[in-house]
Amino acid sequence: MKLKIAVLSGDGIGPEVTHEAIKTLNAISKTFGHTFEYHEAAVGAIAIDEFNDPLPEATLTVCKTTDAVLFGAIGHPKYDNDPSAPVRPEQGLLKLRKELGLYANIRPTTMYAKLADQSPLRPERIAGVDLTIYRELTGGIYFGEKKLSDDKTFASDLCSYSEQEVERIAVMAFKSAQNRRKKLTLVDKANVLETSRLWRRVVTELGKQYPDVALDFLFVDNAAMQLILNPAQFDVIVTENMFGDILSDEASVLGGSIGLAASASVGDKHSMFEPIHGSYPQAAGKGIANPVASILSAAMLLEHFDLYDEAALIKAAVTASIDQGISTQDVVAGSNYSTKDVGNFVEHYILKQEAPVAGLDNVTIGSSTII
Ligand code: IPM
Ligand code: MG
Repeated sequence: MKLKIAVLSGDGIGPEVTHEAIKTLNAISKTFGHTFEYHEAAVGAIAIDEFNDPLPEATLTVCKTTDAVLFGAIGHPKYDNDPSAPVRPEQGLLKLRKELGLYANIRPTTMYAKLADQSPLRPERIAGVDLTIYRELTGGIYFGEKKLSDDKTFASDLCSYSEQEVERIAVMAFKSAQNRRKKLTLVDKANVLETSRLWRRVVTELGKQYPDVALDFLFVDNAAMQLILNPAQFDVIVTENMFGDILSDEASVLGGSIGLAASASVGDKHSMFEPIHGSYPQAAGKGIANPVASILSAAMLLEHFDLYDEAALIKAAVTASIDQGISTQDVVAGSNYSTKDVGNFVEHYILKQEAPVAGLDNVTIGSSTII
């Protein structure tokens, strides 16, 4: 298969982790005979610095004319302390989601047996956890009308949803549940919000077309609690934009580190794949960032194009790296393994279809002979 991939590595650790994801994709293309073509473009704080625009027109064009986007991270401390700055890196990401029509954000939570002790929850609580959140990504309070009175003493953000916006992501979530454990939970706040009551009505109606999927409902405050008390009860969760933002960060750490959590954002025409973590500026350039979330986002990209064997091989490589303790320090305290070491291990595993024989020395030797 030939795929044109836009690469928007962005800020902070974005470029380092994306580099390892591309190494992984190259190992896959070599092994399976695919052609992946990369088109780099600027986004976020670096794009503001260079073009005074977090999403320059040229970047948007690259994204619209390629098959998929591989995204790194955006954000820089110089903007974080000034929420009223007129131009902010996040605007680039939000505009990209809207312009590409990426209405469904899919965030799986994967547990690794080896990391059971890393979870903030006791091992018996996380046993059997395997859940995926479908977060609506282009509507709700994020994109509703924003107001600030002239004297700046009053502000409002409008939360609105149409039936069609709810239905299209709910269809995806039902289909996903059909291919998994056949359970779908709608998270809302239908005891308070009109938009939530709309979600409930639309999802309930749609559920009649998926009789094999057990549908249930949870208020968002209870869902936040249940994710900690009994996360194994969940299969697929579908929810609106802001609830999904918050719950997916909560779910992402159940596995031990947000550095492992990948995501896909898809619409009818375009798709984008990105780690859940942010730009982690404190770690930028130090070689300590975990590339696994980015590498697994590349695996989700391949799955999106039905390249399941390829994605499975990436996942096997990642699991092997974790099993052998070849992980960065967010996962293994005090680890000396770098971003690059983890990427080298994964690359080697894919090219040889086996783990390097004995730890890091071999990884380095293996990759240098390969490159
Ligand atoms: C995410 C992030 C973004 C969001 C920010 C950076 C705007 O937190 O992708 O979850 O809130 O959607
Ligand atoms: Mg978030």
